[in-house]
Parts: sequence; structure tokens; C-alpha cells
Amino acid sequence: MAKRVGIISVEDLDFMNDEVALRLKGRDFISLHDFTGEEIFKIFQVARELKELLREGKQCPLLAGKTLGMIFQKPSTRTRVSFEVGIFQLGGYGLFLNASDLQLRRGETIGDTARVLSRYVDGIMIRTFDHKDVEDLAKYATVPVINGLTDRLHPCQALADYFTILEKRGRLEGLKLAYVGDGNNVAHSLLFGAAKVGMNIAIATPEGYEPDSAIVDAARKDAKATGSRIDILHDPVEAVKDADVIYTDVWASMGQEQEHDRRVKALTPYQVNQELVDKAKPDVMVMHCLPAHRGEEITDDVIDGPHSIVFDQAENRMHAQKGLMALLMRD
Ligand code: CP
Ligand code: NVA
Repeated sequence: MAKRVGIISVEDLDFMNDEVALRLKGRDFISLHDFTGEEIFKIFQVARELKELLREGKQCPLLAGKTLGMIFQKPSTRTRVSFEVGIFQLGGYGLFLNASDLQLRRGETIGDTARVLSRYVDGIMIRTFDHKDVEDLAKYATVPVINGLTDRLHPCQALADYFTILEKRGRLEGLKLAYVGDGNNVAHSLLFGAAKVGMNIAIATPEGYEPDSAIVDAARKDAKATGSRIDILHDPVEAVKDADVIYTDVWASMGQEQEHDRRVKALTPYQVNQELVDKAKPDVMVMHCLPAHRGEEITDDVIDGPHSIVFDQAENRMHAQKGLMALLMRD
């Protein structure tokens, strides 16, 4: 039967059918640490191709008729909208599930929730507090589970971030990312990602706000294979020296609101302002996962200035996650 003009299926796309692509089918996406560099670059390739096809106005219903259940236990703008629009563009449907409206809130177990949802949907994305909840969901679900942020990790964010840097610079290996601020979930996923894609990463935090040492150790092991350099520092100026990218995130993450004042006091010397940006490479790119607390971790002139790529970065959440969903949830 003749194909409908302008509509592309998975068989038409060579890059969806090689050994690395097929290896990703049915997998969970809980941490970048679980993936090889080759697999991460495959997701980037599919994301880039789908982004280009979208720009050309071509329809790619690679997930036609498939549903992604999206459980949210915390608020979201980017994650919700980018997943919902992304799966729609792939011909599927995104089902928003507010955790407080589910029986989870009344004590139904994660395991039972996973088993039941697996009978209805083709993939589950979850944003929650306790990282173990995502691991348990993946253990009991029979469909791919995607981590949409936990207190420990934010792998979809780091995936989109490295995709963005690759798009801007044409390579990742040997570039340096300086993360300045709180050693939080985003910092953890950036660490895991840097070690896999061969980027150098320097993290500068106040004492007591360093990334988890188990994550640093695991990333350092991966870094041995790729040659990435990982530095955990307390001096923001030292971190941004020769940096290609400066990255920051909020000082009080979701769930830490009551610690806000204490955190502002400790983290104020780590603000990403023009003075700090001037100490990096002249063409340094400034990134932030957003939402930003302007005037705290980043100043208006920097986030709105010529070095900032934060809105391209936010857009790429959708393209990167389309690549991810297409590979994980395909037939
Ligand atoms: N960066 C990010 O995950 O944003 P949201 O909290 O709006 O989803
Ligand atoms: N570290 C932040 C990231 C928000 C996308 C948080 O967990 O709230």
C-alpha cells in the first residue's frame, strides 16, 4: 500500500533500526548512569532527526495509538508540557495523573499502581520525592518507566542539557561544564551524564551542599573510561575557569522550601552574576534548568544576556524526550 505523503513510520528511519536503537526498546530511564555513552548519543541522534523532521513539517507518528501515563507528585511546567506535547507529536497520548488524585494518596502501593497502570498505558513517567518510588515503580511495571525528577536525580533534564550543548558546539568530548550552586538532583544527573559523554565537569558548592559522594564515586568510575575530569570544589571562580558552560539551579529545591533562608545565606557567594561569567571563556554559555529564582542563584542580566541559552535548553526538553520515548516505547 502506498505510504501517505509526509507521514513517516519507524521502518522508514534507518537510525531507529540499528543494534543500539533496538537495545533501548522497552528499557526504563531512571538514571543516565544505567546507559552507555553510545546509547545516550543514540537518543541524541533520534532527537536531532525528529527535531529536524518537525521543522520540515513532516509528521512522525512513531508512537501512534500509544499512551504515556504521567504521574506528578510535585509541580511542573516544562516536564509536563514537553512530555505531553512530545507524545502528541509522535501520534500518542499523554495522560496527566496528579498523584494526590490517585489511590496512591490513600495508601495503594507503588507496586500495585505499577501493575495496574501497565495494563492501560505503554509507558509511565513519574515525578516524585523519594527516588526509591521510581525504582519500585520500574520493578513492578511491565512498561518502560521514565524518571521525571526525584530528590536524587533529574535525568531527562541532563539528557536535554547535553543534547543542547552538542547542538551548539558540535561536540561534547573535552568541553568543560562548571556547575555552581547546590549539589542537588540536577547536579547529580549532570555528573552522571558528563562522565558518560566525555565532558569535564567542575562543581562548586558551599561546604555541606556538595553532591552525594556515592554519585561522585560512581561518576568517577565511568569517567575513567571516557577521560572526563570531575572536580568537586568550593571556589566558584576556580570552577568557572576555562569553562565552556556555566550551569546553575535553584538553591532550595521542591520540598526544601522551609530551608530557603538558611540556603540563601550559604549560597549567596555562589550566585551566577556577570562578574562570575566574565571569569569563564569569552564565549561561555549559561544554562539553567528553570524555574529560576531571579536575583538569587542567577541575576537578570545574565539569564537575559547574550551568553544565556536557557530557552533553547528548555525547548530541547521536548526534542530530547521525543527521542527517548520513541526509542523506549516503540513496537
Ligand atoms: N526543569 C524542569 O524540570 O522544569 P519543571 O519543574 O517546570 O518541569
Ligand atoms: N532542583 C530543582 C529542579 C527543578 C526542575 C528541584 O528539584 O526543585
